Amino acid sequence: MIILAIDTSCDDTSVAISSDNVVLANIIFSQVALHKEWGGVVPTIAKRAHQEHIDGVIQKAMKQAKMSLSSIEVFGVTQGPGLAIALEVGIAKAKELASTYNKPLVAVNHMEGHLYANFAATHSSQKKDIQFPALVLLVSGGHSDLFIMRDHGHYEKLGEKLDDAVGEAFDKVARMLGLGYPGGALLAKLAEKGDSSIYKFPVPLHQVKDFNFSYSGLKTAIQRVIKEKTANGTLLAQYEICDISASFQRVAIHHLIERVERALQIYEVKSLLLGGGVSANLLLRKHLRNIAKKYHVEFFYPKNKKLCMDNAAMIAVTAWYKAMRGEFVKDFDRNPGMSIESSH
Ligand code: KG4
Ligand code: ZN
Repeated sequence: MIILAIDTSCDDTSVAISSDNVVLANIIFSQVALHKEWGGVVPTIAKRAHQEHIDGVIQKAMKQAKMSLSSIEVFGVTQGPGLAIALEVGIAKAKELASTYNKPLVAVNHMEGHLYANFAATHSSQKKDIQFPALVLLVSGGHSDLFIMRDHGHYEKLGEKLDDAVGEAFDKVARMLGLGYPGGALLAKLAEKGDSSIYKFPVPLHQVKDFNFSYSGLKTAIQRVIKEKTANGTLLAQYEICDISASFQRVAIHHLIERVERALQIYEVKSLLLGGGVSANLLLRKHLRNIAKKYHVEFFYPKNKKLCMDNAAMIAVTAWYKAMRGEFVKDFDRNPGMSIESSH
């Protein structure tokens, strides 16, 4: 099944082509440069940029996959969660194409897409044997979610963010450290050079035995340290930026790992799946790999960096699984607050 999928949920215009779950093209036009000067994503700028670039990104994807639009059998698009006016652009385009070529349409949940990045294959001989039930950790700029996935399309939520999402906390702390926007990945890079034992921050919700996540307290604790150090107008030294980054990252990741470990103690699962932009974090992967070994589960994370970040290949792969179950839609609207459980 040849699928063309579109994701315009936030500040990346992305179009992908897949043959079943094999990714043939995954084009991303990043708008970071447009939003940088504002220190965050400006919805109206995102909408306009999506409108300006969507056709060009589609053409690029077709060219890379060596296909024409008439050979597409199913169109997939992100319905939510995301920025309403940004989502609209992709949805309008997908509806237009499905109607022009008289082909079925699949609406995909963006976070389910991040999860299905694990089922994407980069070539046809690659087998992806993920055993259920699986424990799923989705960590991005907008979400920190823990699920039990019993089968394709069957989810049970264990926990979610109570305030800032983990990627958002990385970005906010990076900004406090003067690392610009979006600084999460740069913070993680600088953390490698720092000493994580210099600053002792408490692990959030350490005594609370549930599966929810909170980062606002940790963020405030860091803000306090930075304020103290820069009180008389002195700038942070590079080594201090690295040490604060490392100390923050250690605790931020520890919080995730504590939740995952408790879930592995309680639920009998066969696999552990990681998804979302923060899945690019090397320390997180390292700890999850170790914990998966300890509890004898197989650990999966997206195969390459593009599949970690916002991209349409993950939407195409999800659309394929949904299309196989006949989950097509005729008319639908954007759903900015869409949850995974409501997607089925
Ligand atoms: O999934 P994604 O691309 O967009 C959303 O759906 O939110 O995730 C972006 C988030 C940003 O907050 C970014 O700072 C974070 O992922 N991120 C990282 C790393 N790379 C990206 N956070 C920690 N460590 C990284 N290496
Ligand atoms: Zn995302």
